[in-house]
Amino acid sequence: MKQILRSICVGTLACFTAACGGKIAETSDEAIETVFDNKDYHTLSKAEDVAAKHLSLDINVDFDTKKISGSATWQLERKNSKAKEIIFDTYDLEIDSVLLDNGEKVNFTLGEKDSFLGAPLQIPLNEQTQSCTIYYKTGANATALQWLEASQTFGKKHPFLYTQSQSIHARSWIPTQDGPGVRFTYDANVKAPAGLMALMSAENPQERSADGRYTFKMDIPIPAYLMALAVGDIDFKPIDNKTGVYAEPSILNKARAEFEDVGKMIAVAENLYGPYRWGRYDMLVLPSGFPIGGMENPKLTFCTPTILAGDKSLVNLIAHELAHSWSGNLVTNENWNDFWLNEGFTVYFERRIMEAMHGADYADMLWEIGYQDLEETIADLGADSEDTHLRLNLKGRNPDEGLTEIPYEKGGHLLRLIEQTVGRANMDTFLKSYFDEYAFKTINTRTFIEYINVHLLDANPEWKAAININEWLYAPGIPESCPRGNNKLLIQVDELTKEFVASGKISHAEATNWSTLEWMHFLRGLQKYPITNKEMAHLDNIYHITQRKNSEVAVLWYQLALKTAYEPAYKPMEDFLLVTGREKFLQPLYKAMVALPEGKTWAKKIYASARPNYHPLTRRWIDNIVLN
Ligand code: BES
Ligand code: ZN
Repeated sequence: MKQILRSICVGTLACFTAACGGKIAETSDEAIETVFDNKDYHTLSKAEDVAAKHLSLDINVDFDTKKISGSATWQLERKNSKAKEIIFDTYDLEIDSVLLDNGEKVNFTLGEKDSFLGAPLQIPLNEQTQSCTIYYKTGANATALQWLEASQTFGKKHPFLYTQSQSIHARSWIPTQDGPGVRFTYDANVKAPAGLMALMSAENPQERSADGRYTFKMDIPIPAYLMALAVGDIDFKPIDNKTGVYAEPSILNKARAEFEDVGKMIAVAENLYGPYRWGRYDMLVLPSGFPIGGMENPKLTFCTPTILAGDKSLVNLIAHELAHSWSGNLVTNENWNDFWLNEGFTVYFERRIMEAMHGADYADMLWEIGYQDLEETIADLGADSEDTHLRLNLKGRNPDEGLTEIPYEKGGHLLRLIEQTVGRANMDTFLKSYFDEYAFKTINTRTFIEYINVHLLDANPEWKAAININEWLYAPGIPESCPRGNNKLLIQVDELTKEFVASGKISHAEATNWSTLEWMHFLRGLQKYPITNKEMAHLDNIYHITQRKNSEVAVLWYQLALKTAYEPAYKPMEDFLLVTGREKFLQPLYKAMVALPEGKTWAKKIYASARPNYHPLTRRWIDNIVLN
């Protein structure tokens, strides 16, 4: 059996599933595990021998040289008495010197550089060594850092820096054991330019210091991908006594208003799956160049300003990042192949929060829109692609390649199927105990399967058969058992879409009350039809869509405008591309643009001005679309 599985998993699990019709269900979990060995191939450190348990960071943030420099002192736990060295991950770091606890300077080795893993920093240890201090500077290609000029901020007066460490970019600003399976506590001294605020994934100041010096403390152990820092012209406003918002002064009030319900979200989340264990929950709204929607940095979610819609319609992103305080930050995927255990659980939890806040009809729309994203991703990746398996195989690849809708939506829908199979009450009891059992630990797919079998599924073979979890994990595409919601609101939108496509007219009254999600569904639906420039103008006259500031709606509208050569939307689209760095929005727009006859020249022209505003990793993606 092992033999068969090995050959299957190397290439053709898909054919196996098809040919043997559900055989995977009969395959022993043990056999599958011979292929997935649960090693983290994305860290060069060996924490199983010597683990770095506490970090004291002492750094200076220099906007002139665009470098962070200083020292990282690590307290070590000697796990293997024979181990004679500690290894840290580094990426593009310049290591000046390394001292052991007694001040002894040691000869370290910076190994050969791998294109995305970086170089291992090997530090020889004495038998007694308990700590080491690394003096270092970041490099020009630090993948975690985005240094913004004043002109790229809202206020236009001060520069700004932020980090994005997930998946394996922490090593580009801290020498660290950069795998999700290694947790540590930290304290930090940060020197920023006088007058600016500094914030971390830690206990944070609420006021600026006069001299730019800040101290931080994080006494809950976290993995390196949750290390975060931001420096800029940032102020704070409380929402309630446990939550608040940080942002540049000119958007602070807007952000506070948008997020004012976050206290309720926390209450709802705690009611579902147990206490929020991180103390405060604050949010930092970044300048528009932030490359992603949000990042669940502990105690301080980082997020894009593109969710400040003015009507709270995009705050499910906050629910998502908050949910990571349980799924991800508390119970953490052991390596990036198990990324679905972070994101799938979080999508499910996010939608449960939204359902409790806004009702089942609303949550059903989120599920349906997510399902469509999943379908689109599978079409892009290919129906047979192994990258559509829930459990990924990222060995030898950049883990950022695993960042597709699969872990999110396929993972979220698997949990929804489990809920629908076992019933909500059983599901919630199970999840609550899961978060308790694995709090501050890591989890891999195998451990999860064992846990769910023992605590939920073994009791009922019918449940197990109906869920057929291995099909979700190790076969491509969307399993037939995938739940679809009861989407009465979106079905109404579909009807109106058909009517509009057939008649070129739309009944005014109905669409006027649409929520953002209904608008998104309508505009997505229209992409499938050959609608005309005239019809675009008709819609725009009635609903003023070109003027709308909701980013999700705007991007879909711009895509339609490109397809139909609807010129009134071009200028707003160009303005949007010049300031927005959120990759999810950039990719479809640039792709649609280059697909037009004269589009490549046009895209190149806009990109030439916009590129400096984009994150270094985003530039790589868009370079591929526009420049190659
Ligand atoms: N943890 C992710 C962001 C991430 C994942 C960054 C992997 C780098 C590598 C975050 O929680 C997230 O999922 N953000 C989404 C938000 C959405 C699903 C609501 C985003 O940024 O779009
Ligand atoms: Zn997430």
